[in-house]
Amino acid sequence: MMGIQFPNRIGLAAGLDKNGEYIDALGKLGFGHIEIGTVTPRPQPGNTAPRLFRLVKEEGIINRMGFNNKGVDYLLEQVKRSRYKGVLGINIGKNFDTPVEKAVDDYLLGMRAVYLYADYIAINISSPNTPGLRTLQYGDELRQLLQALKQEQTLLNEKHARYVPITVKVAPDLDDDEIKNIATVLLQQRIDGLIATNTTLSREGVEENRYAQEKGGLSGKPVMQRSTQVLEKFHAYLQGEIPIIGVGGIASAADAEAKISAGAELIQLYTGLIYQGEALIKEVSKATAETPSKKVS
Ligand SMILES: Cc1cc2nc3c(=O)[nH]c(=O)nc-3n(C[C@H](O)[C@H](O)[C@H](O)COP(=O)(O)O)c2cc1C
Repeated sequence: MMGIQFPNRIGLAAGLDKNGEYIDALGKLGFGHIEIGTVTPRPQPGNTAPRLFRLVKEEGIINRMGFNNKGVDYLLEQVKRSRYKGVLGINIGKNFDTPVEKAVDDYLLGMRAVYLYADYIAINISSPNTPGLRTLQYGDELRQLLQALKQEQTLLNEKHARYVPITVKVAPDLDDDEIKNIATVLLQQRIDGLIATNTTLSREGVEENRYAQEKGGLSGKPVMQRSTQVLEKFHAYLQGEIPIIGVGGIASAADAEAKISAGAELIQLYTGLIYQGEALIKEVSKATAETPSKKVS
């Protein structure tokens, strides 16, 4: 996928290793790829604690971490030091105090910095915890951002003779028109891959939990259905021209297969790992080895 040979379909989703400090350990768990970050150009502390809540009964998490990270220079030191030989994605974002009108500058800084160290770059425009970030998913903002990033990719490719694919990570909270518009821009700009999805603002299915009203993005089992529906709609527009990484709520081999049946080529997980441990990785890896990708209609 995207010109990269992935050893299996299952990867680690962004946000668990924001600074690339655990690449070697995570690389030994059976993942076919690891996505580190989200990293911002400059270090920042994120939101004040408490900022993560376990919804144990529902096997969900609400988080409002807010891109706590040590900055891109620190992350690159960790990458250079690691011995991991597998596929590495680096997920980039903007600093909380960079105005959203200047977001493109932060993404360009991030992209230039990580370009030679990533197998693919993920553009995070879907975290609910950085004010204004999700507005980059719409209209002219999206077009301008992705155009600038594709131009930079062309320049960097010429300079280094190395093509590093760009993927865009979207929210699950998109209506049909929004999905169609985003898909159109992704195709126009020849983006290399889509990651669907990030966490949701919805509290459907967790209304009774004592933490339901906490601000932040909800992940894990409660987001599975919504996230897979959004993935399926994107696939209908993208028609295999842009491959999709499916993420959101995978807690079993059957969930992983459902993502692939909905149109994902690869899958990722985070919250499932927290509740079920590493056994889930090998279970999913094995079960999806033979699952056929969705046919294009
Ligand atoms: C505590 C926590 C932190 C996260 N941080 C990030 C992040 O920095 N960047 C990002 O793109 N996604 C982040 N995510 C979202 C996950 O990568 C994933 O898209 C989402 O949790 C849905 O997958 P899951 O249900 O398997 O957890 C985070 C999720 C959690 C639970």
